Amino acid sequence: MRSLLPLATVLGLVLRAHGLFETTFHSSSVVVQPFTILERSPLYDPHDTNLFLICPNGVAVAQPGAAIYKSNGELVWADSKFGNCYDFNVQMYNGQQYLTMWVGAGSAAVGQQMGFGTVLMMNSSYQVVMNVSAVNPEGTDLHEFNIVKPENKTALITAFHTIPMDLSSIGGPVDGWYSNGVIQEIDIATGAVLFNWTTFDHISLLESYNNISLTGQGSSEANPFDAVHINSIDKDREGNYIISARHSQAIYKIAANGTILWRLGGKMSDFTAIGNDTEFHFQHHARWRMDETHISLYDDGAAVFISTVNVIDEPVATGKYLKVDQEKMTVSLTKRFFPSPNRNYTLAEGSTEPYGDTVIVGYGSVPWLEAYSFETEKLLFSAVIGPNNASLWNGGVSNYRAFKTSTVEFTGHPTQPPNVSVTGGDIYVSWNGATHVASYTLLTGPSVDKVSKAVTNVPKSGFETKISGEGSQDFISVAALAANGTTLGQSAVYKISDGNAAGY
Ligand SMILES: *[C@@H]1O[C@H](CO)[C@@H](O)[C@H](O)[C@H]1NC(C)=O
Ligand SMILES: *[C@@H]1O[C@H](CO)[C@@H](O)[C@H](O)[C@H]1NC(C)=O
Ligand SMILES: *[C@@H]1O[C@H](CO)[C@@H](O)[C@H](O)[C@H]1NC(C)=O
Ligand SMILES: *[C@@H]1O[C@H](CO)[C@@H](O)[C@H](O)[C@H]1NC(C)=O
Ligand SMILES: *[C@@H]1O[C@H](CO)[C@@H](O)[C@H](O)[C@H]1NC(C)=O
Ligand SMILES: *[C@@H]1O[C@H](CO)[C@@H](O)[C@H](O)[C@H]1NC(C)=O
Ligand SMILES: *[C@@H]1O[C@H](CO)[C@@H](O)[C@H](O)[C@H]1NC(C)=O
Ligand SMILES: *[C@@H]1O[C@H](CO)[C@@H](O)[C@H](O)[C@H]1NC(C)=O
Ligand SMILES: *[C@@H]1O[C@H](CO)[C@@H](O)[C@H](O)[C@H]1NC(C)=O
Ligand SMILES: *[C@@H]1O[C@H](CO)[C@@H](O)[C@H](O)[C@H]1NC(C)=O
Ligand SMILES: *[C@@H]1O[C@H](CO)[C@@H](O)[C@H](O)[C@H]1NC(C)=O
Repeated sequence: MRSLLPLATVLGLVLRAHGLFETTFHSSSVVVQPFTILERSPLYDPHDTNLFLICPNGVAVAQPGAAIYKSNGELVWADSKFGNCYDFNVQMYNGQQYLTMWVGAGSAAVGQQMGFGTVLMMNSSYQVVMNVSAVNPEGTDLHEFNIVKPENKTALITAFHTIPMDLSSIGGPVDGWYSNGVIQEIDIATGAVLFNWTTFDHISLLESYNNISLTGQGSSEANPFDAVHINSIDKDREGNYIISARHSQAIYKIAANGTILWRLGGKMSDFTAIGNDTEFHFQHHARWRMDETHISLYDDGAAVFISTVNVIDEPVATGKYLKVDQEKMTVSLTKRFFPSPNRNYTLAEGSTEPYGDTVIVGYGSVPWLEAYSFETEKLLFSAVIGPNNASLWNGGVSNYRAFKTSTVEFTGHPTQPPNVSVTGGDIYVSWNGATHVASYTLLTGPSVDKVSKAVTNVPKSGFETKISGEGSQDFISVAALAANGTTLGQSAVYKISDGNAAGY
């Protein structure tokens, strides 16, 4: 068995008592991290339509799971039934929207490619309708699930496969072990592998920045040498791939026949830099942008290999846009997004994703989610997952990538009705996953089948809304209304004296 050390263990942090920071509710069993707003321009998302897709992990997270929040910090949906999740996103497949996320055991953070899991595709009822996996003995790694646009029929997936390897050329054992990085393009409908490529076949050990004598990796099957550590895959319209490799600190372009066409960054870069700040370290999430003239990435600036070795090349992690001229073979920086209010490096994870005229940078193991004007690079919005507590950075709470959708593009249709808790005459109502509730109407009546008199209508106030039970008769129910007055759903009937559900 391979050991699965969470980042904080690797960093030597003491495991904290679980459950310090979570928010709980009366009317729902969900337990979530707060989504704490640090800065917000009045111009940013004025109607709170954004839906941020988050999977918090880390030693301070008692209940890992997926969650959706609004720009005002309000929780919209949470579910921890699949446990550990990564890379929560909305993607199109076959003309339909799916919530996609990796679930399984493992952590993205350690100096090894990790994750023995699968990718879930959920419909707008938050129901899993499809699982997608790599064809690989260890299953699917957590780092990438990128549905290839514009066809939206195949997915790019990372995996790793531990194999024996002679590591003596870099000072390791002759009978050593190697974490072979695998990329596959999968036909989502059939599961067939359309492209299969491994680091062992193409990338020399000498390209790695993973110092084997420091990390001690490679000595056993449980602790293989992670030379390359692929963390993203993208495909261009000509059918070539680009991968981001954290441990060789390079982006590789790979032809459909498997040949490496060029390297950007690392020890063997094929590009000449024009101007400053084009270099990157331990980067994540490399994507073609702007008609394939630019690559966006998240430049972590730092990495952890083992408990005592933090490699810090840059004092601050940033989201970057690099202009990549494949004829002149030059690279230059065109956009750089800095964190605020603090600046810091990130030891692992992170993302840079444009949405219209804004860009969202997810700072990974420093769980900040920040939105910027693409044009001016100015910060518009900053939030932290969990409390705003620096002792939780780089270990306590992390979020692999930060993506969003909005209530304009996505409507959640929960399969369960609104849920109610009656406590001491007060009524608490929530509807996990409903995206378009504007208000709740309290209905009452003298018996289970006669609950139809409206007592009051109150605006929805956060994930859970408190309604006074004053003026109610023996039985109550709560209806959820859209802004246009349409009833979207109604709770069961509850008996107010004991709070028990009495029927529908
Ligand atoms: C519904 O609310 C009750 C409390 O009234 C709670 O015990 C239960 O866990 C809730 N169900 C869900 C799915 O959150
Ligand atoms: C594929 O998905 C993208 C959005 O991710 C969408 O713009 C495009 O129209 C989709 N293509 C097809 C063929 O549905
Ligand atoms: C989502 O899938 C579930 C299970 O197949 C199904 O019951 C539900 O109706 C689907 N929801 C939508 C909105 O398609
Ligand atoms: C998908 O995987 C999840 C988690 O491993 C499992 O619970 C579920 O049964 C699978 N669903 C399908 C449709 O294969
Ligand atoms: C992918 O390539 C590797 C290395 O060449 C090979 O061992 C593996 O069987 C291939 N997997 C598939 C599904 O083709
Ligand atoms: C690995 O680290 C050791 C100890 O700091 C150092 O002596 C050695 O030069 C490093 N090796 C490489 C290849 O950087
Ligand atoms: C692989 O494809 C590249 C780009 O299309 C081409 O330049 C190269 O010659 C091909 N190599 C082989 C061995 O076919
Ligand atoms: C590049 O960095 C150097 C050293 O910090 C500085 O002197 C120079 O002005 C910078 N050049 C540009 C184009 O920003
Ligand atoms: C920050 O988190 C630590 C645990 O990591 C806790 O001891 C401390 O009280 C927290 N500080 C605040 C201000 O919440
Ligand atoms: C920067 O990160 C380090 C390591 O996680 C942490 O100790 C420090 O408090 C952070 N600094 C700020 C300003 O957030
Ligand atoms: C009212 O709003 C809901 C939720 O946004 C929407 O589904 C429905 O179509 C609207 N109805 C009318 C009549 O506009």
